[in-house]
Amino acid sequence: MRSSILTLCLAAIAVAATGCSRDAAPPADPAAKGAAVATADPKAVAEVDEYSYSQPDKVRTNDLALQLKVDFDKKELSGSATYTLDWLDKSATQLVLDTRDITVEKVVGERADGKWDDLTFAVAGKDKVLGSKLTIESPQRNPRIRVTYRTSPDASGLQWLTPAMTEGKKTPFMFSQSQQIHARSWVPLQDTPRVRFTYTAHVTSPQDAMVLMSADNDPNAARDGDYSFAMPQKIPSYLLAIAAGDLTFQPISERAGVWAEPAMVKKAATEFADTEKMMVTAERLYGPYRWQRYDILVLPPSFPYGGMENPRLTFATPTVIVGDKSLVSLVAHELAHSWSGNLVTFSTPKDGWLNEGFTSYVENRIVEDLYGKEAADMEKVISRNELAAEYKEIDPKLQVLALRPGTLSDPDGASSSTVYTKGAWFLQFLEERYGRDVFDPFLKEYFNHFAFQSIPTTKFIEYAKANLLAKHPGKVSEAELDEWIYQPGVPASAPKTVSPRFDAVDAARTAWLDAGTLPDTVATAKWSTQEWVHFIDGMPDTLKPGQLAALDAAYHFSGTPNGEIAQRWYPLAVRSGYTQANAAAAEFIARVGRRKLIMPTYSALVKTPEGLKLAQDTFAKARPGYHPITTASVEEVIAKAQAKPAQ
Ligand code: BES
Ligand code: ZN
Repeated sequence: MRSSILTLCLAAIAVAATGCSRDAAPPADPAAKGAAVATADPKAVAEVDEYSYSQPDKVRTNDLALQLKVDFDKKELSGSATYTLDWLDKSATQLVLDTRDITVEKVVGERADGKWDDLTFAVAGKDKVLGSKLTIESPQRNPRIRVTYRTSPDASGLQWLTPAMTEGKKTPFMFSQSQQIHARSWVPLQDTPRVRFTYTAHVTSPQDAMVLMSADNDPNAARDGDYSFAMPQKIPSYLLAIAAGDLTFQPISERAGVWAEPAMVKKAATEFADTEKMMVTAERLYGPYRWQRYDILVLPPSFPYGGMENPRLTFATPTVIVGDKSLVSLVAHELAHSWSGNLVTFSTPKDGWLNEGFTSYVENRIVEDLYGKEAADMEKVISRNELAAEYKEIDPKLQVLALRPGTLSDPDGASSSTVYTKGAWFLQFLEERYGRDVFDPFLKEYFNHFAFQSIPTTKFIEYAKANLLAKHPGKVSEAELDEWIYQPGVPASAPKTVSPRFDAVDAARTAWLDAGTLPDTVATAKWSTQEWVHFIDGMPDTLKPGQLAALDAAYHFSGTPNGEIAQRWYPLAVRSGYTQANAAAAEFIARVGRRKLIMPTYSALVKTPEGLKLAQDTFAKARPGYHPITTASVEEVIAKAQAKPAQ
């Protein structure tokens, strides 16, 4: 079993975090600094967001009104953001916002008599992770403040694609990715999930571009370069999203559909045909879908993630459209966020599991309902094997569900095994102890109770103690709860999942490794993506190049259109010195920008001088098409390899 490059980066980030300095601009709250707080009472620091300069206890944004112009030539969004404010602290005189690489042109504030005055402001020096603090002087505590600004072509939360980088080759494309803290690179704002706001936007663009946002997109909107949006539910900043390009719509059901480039839209709608059924299942389990429409926007392959749960408009990678629906658990996942994450939100990124762990659990329940227990169990086993590998290497501090402040210097570097897999495993543990009869209604009521709120882990614990532990005594102890949430590793009480289909795969792999007998094609013809993934995952660290050649001849792994298989096959090939796969590996990592899929191959490559050369050459070619988030990850891996002599 192998872990991904992410693992190695994470260990480095955790170590770096202890000595992390913020020379240019220290965090607004001194409590957020360094190791001193790492030992502090978790309850007292639960709501401090060390990744934002904003001071939401003093003043809060209730509504955001955007006026934006999309300029593809300049790779720039320009216009204004108007905040309707709630001054909680009646002696406060400043509005502090987060920005990154944004040029602020002007700031005005509305007076009580409705007139607007200029306000003084200062943009601090740039911190590498947090960006620049924008401090606006508002001695009168203006009820509304407006910032006029422009973004940088290198905004970390936006990608600008030339027509050549799109499917249709005719129209340019742009899209945002705000989570974790990239919204601040395209809108100055209080970039912390503690603050929730409604928003409206008026966006102008060239006429041939359709603009969509995480808001009330109208499937029948005229494509005229002038678009208006409203998001009437309060959302945190990381769910702010925008995309523009040659996009058309194809319905899936009354309330669900797909947006994609014309060449892609039919295929996407067929792949995601089960979306409505997924919504019905989630509603049956956890209560009504509260966001009206659920549409999926299929992005170009450079999208750095698998999916992003932007409300009403999930952003998705095209790499899951493989023709057999075998990767549509991604839709189940992003849809599940409509309850876990978008409705009940973590109040700081260090409580990531409240979003992703709950969502992975709900995703698995949807998969079980639609595709059966076997399918759901295979997904569980794959991710738990990944966790086991990752936990051999990463800092125990990153294995804790409720991260202590100061643990992570960059919130994008959280351990996904912890946040997603351990988080979901904990909920499965509770489910098994209490039974679905008790646990399902508990979770439904939890979503209802905290709807449209942002909460820290401590709030969940309080709620679980009152509504599960106290009401059903003798099933789970407070010590067990504490172990799951505050201790590293996976508790011994974790439920085990067995998969007979994977047992058969294990037997086939062993037979091949021991005697060279390739698995029977009658059996493999029925294997799903998950079975192939498990087949490769269980291989030794390295094989003989001849063994890989035999597998390749039989199953054509090199060149596979399936990213989940490619993600595992190419690193194995690289580690094993099976250089015949190099060309296909390079093609894959150049074409796809989804971090999770390509980073394992990059990190396997950089371990040898020849591999490093191939990684560097491929990166040089691919870089113009990569998203800033992916570029940063690849640069880090290459820089680290260059810094130390190859082993
Ligand atoms: N919200 C995440 C994506 C994310 C997490 C972006 C943290 C930035 C920081 C999204 O819901 C997600 O989990 N995506 C997964 C898909 C999946 C687990 C099916 C991904 O992109 O791999
Ligand atoms: Zn997620």
